[in-house]
Amino acid sequence: MVSVRLENLVKRFGKVTAVDHISLAIKNGEFVVLLGPSGCGKTTTLRLISGLELPDEGRIYFDDSDVTYLPPKERNISMVFQSYAVWPHMTVYDNIAFPMRIKKVPEDEIKRKVKWAAELLRIGELLDRYPHQLSGGQKQRVAVARAIVVEPAVLLMDEPLSNLDALLRMLMRSEIKKLQRRLKVTTIYVTHDQVEAMVMADRVAVMNKGRIMQIGTTEEIYNKPANLFVAGFIGSPRMNFFEASVSDTILDTGYFKMKLPEEMKQVLEGYETVIVGIRPEDIHPVERGIPPGVKPIELEGRVDFIEPLGSDTIIHLKIGEILLLVKVPGSYIVEMGRKLKVALDFNKLHIFDKKTEKAIL
Ligand SMILES: Nc1ncnc2c1ncn2[C@@H]1O[C@H](COP(=O)(O)OP(=O)(O)OP(=O)(O)O)[C@@H](O)[C@H]1O
Ligand SMILES: [Mg+2]
Repeated sequence: MVSVRLENLVKRFGKVTAVDHISLAIKNGEFVVLLGPSGCGKTTTLRLISGLELPDEGRIYFDDSDVTYLPPKERNISMVFQSYAVWPHMTVYDNIAFPMRIKKVPEDEIKRKVKWAAELLRIGELLDRYPHQLSGGQKQRVAVARAIVVEPAVLLMDEPLSNLDALLRMLMRSEIKKLQRRLKVTTIYVTHDQVEAMVMADRVAVMNKGRIMQIGTTEEIYNKPANLFVAGFIGSPRMNFFEASVSDTILDTGYFKMKLPEEMKQVLEGYETVIVGIRPEDIHPVERGIPPGVKPIELEGRVDFIEPLGSDTIIHLKIGEILLLVKVPGSYIVEMGRKLKVALDFNKLHIFDKKTEKAIL
């Protein structure tokens, strides 16, 4: 088990900068998820850590040793890919045994290890089968078993669950997480699924355009997004945003005005235009009663669309030119087309600098 440190990594493909000065320190035994939209450089970052790609700039350390240019097989890593890379012509047993055979591990030890990994992943009954006789989830378990038998110092996983159906994905993500806890193997896991990231990670690194926009626990990136990108990317449905002008004492979005409390005046001093964000669950229909602790800013709009999701309902509220998304419990019934007054919770507002897109508050 090792710690992993990336220092100013850069990887270019022609004109595309796939990885743009990434620095990241991952603790020994930690589970870090790289999360971001398609094309943001997740796979490339993982391939740099594995040694399948070499960086144009920067360094990679495992503990204190510089592995930047070390070939993959000397790094003691295992990788699990999105497409379950199990060999079709080999049985499950041989698939799992394969990386140990390459390392010339004695057959009796191989047998012991295969049994151990197969039991951990609950595929002990399947060892004589061929991949075409397995379900998607079983194949993915074989791929994970094969990755852990060599007891890697670092486990790298690139969207390993994206080929599975929703239910199986949910089961597998908790299994992989529990397995990682047991093995205490330093793990870097790539996904573009925010729920998967938030459920599995000790810390999530949110990426965009080759850069890390923020790294933190689920709680941190959700409640204290460091910039507009993270605020808009994390959370479903997404955060509502308004542009607002700041004068001495007033914040004016054109839809609502707020007299700034003393402490906010100081924080916002010097800013002219800001972006105000509020999550759908921090907006409450006034007629339902405003929950205790909410400092309300009232707004009225017309119900434009309703998305019933069972336990929750998302109301699209049309206010002037904008649509405000409001999340309410599924038990709350509201009719399309009617007027609705809502209260935004002042305490839950996020404020970003329009120019730098960084969080001010
Ligand atoms: N071998 C390559 N040659 C040229 N460009 C590449 C190569 N590999 C990746 N890229 C480009 O680098 C950028 C980052 O790609 P990468 O595969 O790392 O993204 P990703 O975050 O894993 O995306 P996805 O979620 O779609 O898998 C993309 O613009 C991609 O087109
Ligand atoms: Mg990828």
